[in-house]
Amino acid sequence: MNGHICGTGAYAPKNILDNQKLSQIVDTSDAWIQERTGIVSRHLVLEEDTVTMATQAAKKAIEMAGISAEEIDLIVLATCSAKRLLPCSACEVQKEIGAIHATCFDLNAACTGFLYAYNTAQAYLQSNLYKTILVIGAETLSRQVDYKDRSTCILFGDGAGAVLVKAKEQGMFSMISHSEGEKGEVLTCEQGDYIKMNGQEVFKFAVRNVPNVILEVLQKNKMKPDEIDYFILHQANKRIVEAVAKRLQVDIGKFPMNVKDYGNTSSASIPILLDEWNRKKKLKPGMKIIMAGFGAGLSWGATLIEW
Ligand code: ACO
Repeated sequence: MNGHICGTGAYAPKNILDNQKLSQIVDTSDAWIQERTGIVSRHLVLEEDTVTMATQAAKKAIEMAGISAEEIDLIVLATCSAKRLLPCSACEVQKEIGAIHATCFDLNAACTGFLYAYNTAQAYLQSNLYKTILVIGAETLSRQVDYKDRSTCILFGDGAGAVLVKAKEQGMFSMISHSEGEKGEVLTCEQGDYIKMNGQEVFKFAVRNVPNVILEVLQKNKMKPDEIDYFILHQANKRIVEAVAKRLQVDIGKFPMNVKDYGNTSSASIPILLDEWNRKKKLKPGMKIIMAGFGAGLSWGATLIEW
């Protein structure tokens, strides 16, 4: 028994901060940001928070899946920017959507959070403990960014994405994931403080490890990169995605990107992109997709699924 994604949803705040406006707040320029990151604008919360965005994304995924919220057995919500420590955001989403039979918990693995949450859902499905699982990535990183620090504030945006996963007899699921706590100091955020990052080290870590973990999961399944229809990577930086495509010698067209419009939304980036591609009808049944995440921890992984 494997999980199959039968509904996706996403939410991004209406409020948009583009590079022009950002360059009036901090010493930077549209040209610099676009050249180094590919980002043009990002959505930032005004009224919303992690839970309200997650709820909107979840409702859309449930609607697409055509199920009732009461059928959901488990809600796993990946976030590193919950507004409240207690109760967990997953329980707050449960209350909002009326998923009264669900068990709920949050999972924090920074930008790799959605991937680990998805893998966790699959493990529950494979062990027959649950049949219908809502997996969410939701972040309000604008609240954890210092808008005086140009090396970080240009990167991050807010948003949420969700997938509804149902148990299915066939279907493909294979994953490889890693964590390396020894290198964790390159990307940190203390309670009540802002994100501190050694951008170059994070960049090097990503371009080295993401292609390797993708190759690991392909090798495990005796597959080659050209057998994959789409690579849905965490949207941190256009140059990272391009470097991964080059290392794998795969056409960049197989690497959808929306970092231009959202910036880095951490654990929300993969499900937001999945939802966008799904609603554009680019994802067809039987397609092989690799999702790959990386971020603070350090943590990274690649998951192979069949659409
Ligand atoms: N505008 C203008 N100049 C800037 C800016 C800015 N926003 N930021 C830095 N600079 C300057 C620096 O001061 C430096 O100037 P100097 O040469 O006079 O000292 C110069 O630009 C080059 O700085 P670098 O840090 O070397 O720039 P780099 O090309 O490495 O790009 C960036 C920086 C975009 C942060 C890049 O390193 C990167 O994307 N790293 C990955 C970050 C990332 O993805 N983090 C999230 C991971 S996921 C998670 O878990 C949260």
